[in-house]
Amino acid sequence: EKGGYEHFMLKEIHEQPKAITDTYRGRLLRNEAIIKMAGVEDNMKKFLNANRIIIVACGTSWHAGLVAEYIFEDLSRIPVEVEYASEFRYRNPIIDENDIVIAISQSGETADTLAAIKLAKSKGAFVFGVCNVVGSSIARETHAGAYTHAGPEIGVASTKAFTTQITVLTLMALRLARAKGTISSSEFRQHLLELEMIPNKVEKALEADAHIREIADLYKDSRNCLYLGRGYNFPVALEGALKLKEISYIHAEGYPAAEMKHGPIALIDENMPIVVIATKKGHYEKVVSNIQEIKSRKGKIIGIVTEGDEQVRALADHVIEVPETLESLSPLLTTIPLQLLSYHIAVLLGKNVDQPRNLAKSVTVE
Ligand code: M6R
Repeated sequence: EKGGYEHFMLKEIHEQPKAITDTYRGRLLRNEAIIKMAGVEDNMKKFLNANRIIIVACGTSWHAGLVAEYIFEDLSRIPVEVEYASEFRYRNPIIDENDIVIAISQSGETADTLAAIKLAKSKGAFVFGVCNVVGSSIARETHAGAYTHAGPEIGVASTKAFTTQITVLTLMALRLARAKGTISSSEFRQHLLELEMIPNKVEKALEADAHIREIADLYKDSRNCLYLGRGYNFPVALEGALKLKEISYIHAEGYPAAEMKHGPIALIDENMPIVVIATKKGHYEKVVSNIQEIKSRKGKIIGIVTEGDEQVRALADHVIEVPETLESLSPLLTTIPLQLLSYHIAVLLGKNVDQPRNLAKSVTVE
């Protein structure tokens, strides 16, 4: 059942090229230069008239929501707020029938997310679900939705659910951008083309596996780890840190790279590994100067870089390459090495990768 892999998590990491393809299949029609999503199409008026989108989710799904915030605002020019479902539901939110709530959930059973949906509905908002499990409670409770077609995710640490959630949300943002005229037709076509190339590029990113295992071996005994990223890759930094925490029990924090100097920089010494997402597009020079700041404090730098990068390579202790893509699609690639890094560290430490202590696959209690 693990398809020859040692753990479900590793199998699911490797399934991402197929899962992403399955998620855009039948929706992304590149030759016709259109995106077809019934749940969006049927409610186009609501989406076009919405004052704002509020995304509610927990954990990794919340990180996918943060990536979506960048994509929706950037491409479709719709204001987006992203909320932890548990906070949203208990803070008397200001919300009405002109708001759209998007609930993201792999399992479709998360108690807080389900409660947030019920609250939003009671205030008259239109609620759209992005779920993986077909027929789940959240899928049934929402007005409309789009499934991620990731297939069953067994490992407690979410991997392919995350990248397929981002895929669905990207398709939605592009579809709405087209309808609103906030994206040119050439830009739209370029996104479709690049999105179609993502599964092959994920495959390519997975080839760094053995190299990542070597890096994992060097840092497996660390007590702390920082993850930094900017823009679209800030949420990826959060997700990388969560992955490491939950399966290896190493304390890790994700930060927007520029926030480093507002506190976390005090932690940096020669024992602190810092994973920096420093791909070519998206504030590259600024991230390079953050890397210089880390280096001068002797922190150990693991850079996630674009293929062929030289500048970060010259500064970092290690680099892991991912193929080049559009900035807006880069989280689909930069996430891959972070998943593998935490996986290998957990395996080398002898932890129970698929069923980490204290965690359940779906959190059906608040
Ligand atoms: O099923 P959901 O997407 O609603 O689950 C949300 C979180 O419980 C989940 O993402 C959790 O954070 C994962 N263990 C992360 O790997």
